[in-house]
Amino acid sequence: MRIILLGAPGAGKGTQAQFLMKTFGIPQISTGDMLRAAIKAGTELGKKAKAVMDAGKLVSDDIMIGLVKERVAEPDCQNGYLLDGFPRTIPQADAMHEAGIEVDYVLEFAVPDDVIVKRMAGRRVHPGSGRVYHVDHNPPKQQGKDDLTGEELIVREDDKEETVRKRLAIYHEQTEPLVAYYRKLAEQGKTVFHRLDGTRDVESISAELGELLS
Ligand code: AP5
Ligand code: ZN
Repeated sequence: MRIILLGAPGAGKGTQAQFLMKTFGIPQISTGDMLRAAIKAGTELGKKAKAVMDAGKLVSDDIMIGLVKERVAEPDCQNGYLLDGFPRTIPQADAMHEAGIEVDYVLEFAVPDDVIVKRMAGRRVHPGSGRVYHVDHNPPKQQGKDDLTGEELIVREDDKEETVRKRLAIYHEQTEPLVAYYRKLAEQGKTVFHRLDGTRDVESISAELGELLS
């Protein structure tokens, strides 16, 4: 099963990716996590990406397309994958389909901006794995610690309110046009497009996804 998770920053893509990985045994390809790993490792890519990401802007299409093409060619992606955070622009989507990377489902997470701004203030992440928590809506078992490793959780650099608002503006301008793009592909029978109400609680959304995809 090949899936795109489409939605604004903080819409819940990473959270539901955790559920989908466990339920369907397919790997999550989170371009944001890949970039954050490159920053941590101090690679050339990481050095280029850091300032762009901290400012809430998008890394260039060429870099992102190269990264995803390489990743989907790996053995663990041969039975499917979850694209989380890619494609994020029309050129990324065009390049991906030109390269023969297809998708069975496009899932749009619909959440209004004001709900997102509130949510992001409570987000905590485990930097090693990308696992996501929320201080109120999805708290870790032990405060401030990852459930599996017990390691410290952190606040992401780009989760400051001002940066979140910038990321939302870029989402509406550059990524949201993909909704119409994939609705059109769905009308042509080339994929299935499904819009989810992302304001409901985590478990209700997982239940809807489980039903839709099984
Ligand atoms: P990326 O890491 O992809 O960030 P994003 O798309 O902005 O999305 P987020 O990870 O912020 O949100 P999410 O939807 O995963 O929400 P989450 O589940 O964590 O990208 C970061 C940066 O990398 C970009 O800004 C860009 O610079 C660069 N980049 C990445 N890909 C790129 C590309 N293709 N092209 C160019 N640049 C790229 O949930 C958020 C919070 O809400 C959590 O605390 C969670 O616990 C909570 N929550 C989740 N669901 C619910 C719910 N139903 N109810 C209540 N709370 C909930
Ligand atoms: Zn995410």
